[in-house]
Amino acid sequence: MKNKLTALAFISLLALSACGTREYKPQDYILTMNYKDDFRILQLTDIHLSDKDDQQTQFKFMDLLYKDANSPDLVVVTGDLFTFASKGTAKSLLNYLDGKGVPWTVCFGNHDEQCYFSVDWLTETLTKFGSNCMFKDLQDDAVNGNCNFAINLMKDGKVHDQLFVMDSNRYNFNLSQLGYDCFKQDQIDWYESIVKYTKEQNGGETVNSLMFYHIPLPEINNAWEEGTKIYGEKREASCPPDHDYGFFNKIKELGSTKAMFFGHDHINNFEADYQGVKFCYGIKSTDRIYHDEDMMGCQTITIHSDHSLQIDRYYHTYAEVK
Ligand SMILES: [Fe+2]
Repeated sequence: MKNKLTALAFISLLALSACGTREYKPQDYILTMNYKDDFRILQLTDIHLSDKDDQQTQFKFMDLLYKDANSPDLVVVTGDLFTFASKGTAKSLLNYLDGKGVPWTVCFGNHDEQCYFSVDWLTETLTKFGSNCMFKDLQDDAVNGNCNFAINLMKDGKVHDQLFVMDSNRYNFNLSQLGYDCFKQDQIDWYESIVKYTKEQNGGETVNSLMFYHIPLPEINNAWEEGTKIYGEKREASCPPDHDYGFFNKIKELGSTKAMFFGHDHINNFEADYQGVKFCYGIKSTDRIYHDEDMMGCQTITIHSDHSLQIDRYYHTYAEVK
């Protein structure tokens, strides 16, 4: 009996080490690009491409958005790229984005797991994509989520601005908290380590950052009710997770992130400043799943050389592409 128990313990230990996680350094999570004056980011969101869609119409609609952005420096898709999509459909969209010849990146939304592939497959595909794709995920690390990385915008050897791309995760199936998932404590710790590392690398100066993810933080409701409204409408209740680990408090404490851009709620497009941080919805970029006819398009975020931001919105209807 004792021998059997010893053998079992050994096998368990082997299994544990096989599933073990690796420790990485902050710099392992950072990609770089050159900053140029008036660096312009095109934000697309909630494309929801599925196998049954007419891809050419959807791509023609998105062509209008690229035209609006007028040669952007970077494209960020803030989640829900797919719903009920096969690998072939996924590759079509990724090839479309890449074919624009503009650096691009994505974070994942809750619907990206409702497909005929796993989020891990999508992660691996993006990691290996190369070409114009800016994506990094360390799948064997100890950080929850499938897309936690930073892009440093470099100027004269220093980090001018930093872009966080993070995974707000998908669903919480815990019955006491059934609903959308949230950023986990290890992601908050990861964020803090990158902010502090970048500050150290930048001669002790905290670097301004922007953050891109899919599901708004719970404070989105405070931002709407108590924040300074800059733009837009709230046509549906915001759907953040109803629990979290205090990410917003950490963001305020560290003082790096000045603005956050997300999607998820298709018919909200407001921007509000709340406690020193800008909360900003993207604009739904196709007519897939629920939408409003007058609230589809994109926005661009221009980072000026003094770090100030300019946000421009563009709206279109499908009458333009049919
Ligand atoms: Fe969505």
